[in-house]
Amino acid sequence: MQKEVVVSGIRPTGFLHLGNYFGAMRNYVRMQNDYDCYFFVANWHSLTTHPDTSELKNAVHRVIAENIACGLDPEKVALYVQSDVPEIAELYLYLNMLAYKGELEKTATFKDKVRLQPENVNAGLLTYPVLMAADVIIQRAVKVPVGKDQEQHLEMARNFVDRFNHRYGDVLPLPYAFNYGSELIRIMSLDGNGKMSKSENQMATIYLADDDESIRKKIMKAKTDQGPAEPNSVKPDYIQNLFTLMEQVSSADTYAKFNADFNASSAGNCVIRYGDMKKQLAEDMAQFIRPIREKAADIQANKDQLHRLIAQGAEKARARASETLKMVRDAVGLNY
Ligand code: TRP
Repeated sequence: MQKEVVVSGIRPTGFLHLGNYFGAMRNYVRMQNDYDCYFFVANWHSLTTHPDTSELKNAVHRVIAENIACGLDPEKVALYVQSDVPEIAELYLYLNMLAYKGELEKTATFKDKVRLQPENVNAGLLTYPVLMAADVIIQRAVKVPVGKDQEQHLEMARNFVDRFNHRYGDVLPLPYAFNYGSELIRIMSLDGNGKMSKSENQMATIYLADDDESIRKKIMKAKTDQGPAEPNSVKPDYIQNLFTLMEQVSSADTYAKFNADFNASSAGNCVIRYGDMKKQLAEDMAQFIRPIREKAADIQANKDQLHRLIAQGAEKARARASETLKMVRDAVGLNY
């Protein structure tokens, strides 16, 4: 049976961190056996907000290397760079004729960006969802693993597909946002302020590129409190976050011990020692990240192999993309 096609893109605008790992990359790794996967680095998208390209090449190489180090197998999936697939840009052009200025201006992410960078409200920013739709549609994907903040973009992609099919004939499949719902692990920032995200407080974010010492330092600084007031309390979210991380990287026994200590604790009798818990978590986290960091560094250091991998990914991506583009050109009537 033909496997369903999955597409997802990662913007190369920061270092990948534990939030990306547990929220996205680990799911990509899981999907690679069950779906026909196309994962790419969205470097064109990054130009809408980061016009300075001096660090871009490095960032693109790092994202590719880190994804492989986390377990993506470039033999199983197409792992590529967006700008290596010019078919996307041509499809973007056709889709732009089907996207209305009004709906683009109403997009939540666009309104956010206008607030954040009022000095650079460029047309690429306005049509960001159109480019994203082109990324998905060019591979005729039906499933798109994305976070909540990207669901509106997927809805727009479906609208563009509907309009295309209505105007030119039924050629493109509808793509749907796809996340693992309750299985999806959300990682909070270690200072307790919202989700662990790319650019904010770096001391509260653990990056896959962090060395052992930084990992230890960051975890030891993580927010805690004096402990629960009564036995079997509900954990405050910043404490729950430490337990969530521990559940992922420590042994089941270790997790069970600290969890039991927490549940046995009350105001007059604090059994749980957050200092000890963080020390243990720091060691286990360092051990968890070390092989990923080292493998990613090796891949980045071997430029010949990296270039070969990137070229191989582009070839796979373009094979399917050019089929789609032919279907699209035929449907629109651009076949002379
Ligand atoms: N916009 C996505 C983000 O910021 C990245 C992205 C670009 C993407 N193109 C895509 C995700 C296509 C899924 C499919 O996270």
